[in-house]
Amino acid sequence: MVKHIHQIVADDFARLNEKVVSQLYSSVPLVESIGHYIIEAGGKRMRPVLVLLCSSALGYRGDKHVDLATVIEFLHTATLLHDDVVDMSEMRRGRPTANVRWDNPSSVLVGDFIYSRAFQLLVGIGNMEIMDVMASTTNRISEGEVLQLVHQRNPRTTEAAYMEVIRNKTAILFAAACSSAAILAGADKTMQEKLHTFGLEVGMAFQLVDDVLDYSGSALEMGKNVGDDLAEGKPTLPLIHVMQHGSESEKTMIIDAIRNGGLEKLEEIITVVKASGALDYTRKVAQQRIDLALSCLQELQDSPYKTGLVQVAEAALNRSS
Ligand code: IPE
Ligand code: IPE
Ligand code: MG
Ligand code: MG
Repeated sequence: MVKHIHQIVADDFARLNEKVVSQLYSSVPLVESIGHYIIEAGGKRMRPVLVLLCSSALGYRGDKHVDLATVIEFLHTATLLHDDVVDMSEMRRGRPTANVRWDNPSSVLVGDFIYSRAFQLLVGIGNMEIMDVMASTTNRISEGEVLQLVHQRNPRTTEAAYMEVIRNKTAILFAAACSSAAILAGADKTMQEKLHTFGLEVGMAFQLVDDVLDYSGSALEMGKNVGDDLAEGKPTLPLIHVMQHGSESEKTMIIDAIRNGGLEKLEEIITVVKASGALDYTRKVAQQRIDLALSCLQELQDSPYKTGLVQVAEAALNRSS
């Protein structure tokens, strides 16, 4: 779905894909097996593409942007290995998750390996400001995942609390992809901040849509199962909206679902969630985030790369995978 965007940075994109594979080297075979298994299953590479597009849009001429893009994809990949253990998910990128194919300890530990390889690469880039962004980003992602755990199975979770979770667990990494590329390209503080906000808002929309797709998507297209959030009792915005605006019986049904988790009532819940307008509402919130994101690009000079950034924002909203 984002192939046309990859084309805009085709050479860099090819170098990125070589680098994410070559940087998985390890003297421990299991590390390489799991690393290759998840990296070579593909993925949309949206975050590293943001690095490539932002740095090129700002006229960056060096060769460290591919390393930076690799760092971002590694941080993302590590979170996926950990997230699938925490969420007990069974499908990722069209394959059984690493926790199913191997086991939880291997997934967690190889996740740690990929995290730390990202930081080794970062040292090679040698920019203290970028290091600072990545250190706080990984810190915030962990907080986001823990915060989500705290709200799990709690039907009283508010929309504001949900927004705080997704800002940390997902949006911050999109923001870091854009702002670190701006730092690398030597952009001024104002532009760094604009691109940070652009990334943040795209990331918010991206997770909002992810949470819609968890009720309405196709497992085949997404490469992961529908209903994972419900199974874990995750109070995402579609469910929060039903609890605030649904009929008494709808509210009761969703409260029970969040408290108890499980997929026994998945079909019934999908019907209620769709009929209540909760998915439309969540998409509308995502659309507002994208409008805000696009307004941050105004001062960026026109170029095919800027067009690419607009297309990433649109893809975050309109994706089915
Ligand atoms: C999945 O991200 C994790 C979320 C933040 C929802 P992606 O949907 O970008 O995963 P890949 O990299 O394309 O597999
Ligand atoms: C993803 O959240 C957040 C991180 C990976 C940090 P989800 O749990 O919604 O992502 P998927 O649906 O498993 O990809
Ligand atoms: Mg998950
Ligand atoms: Mg999800």
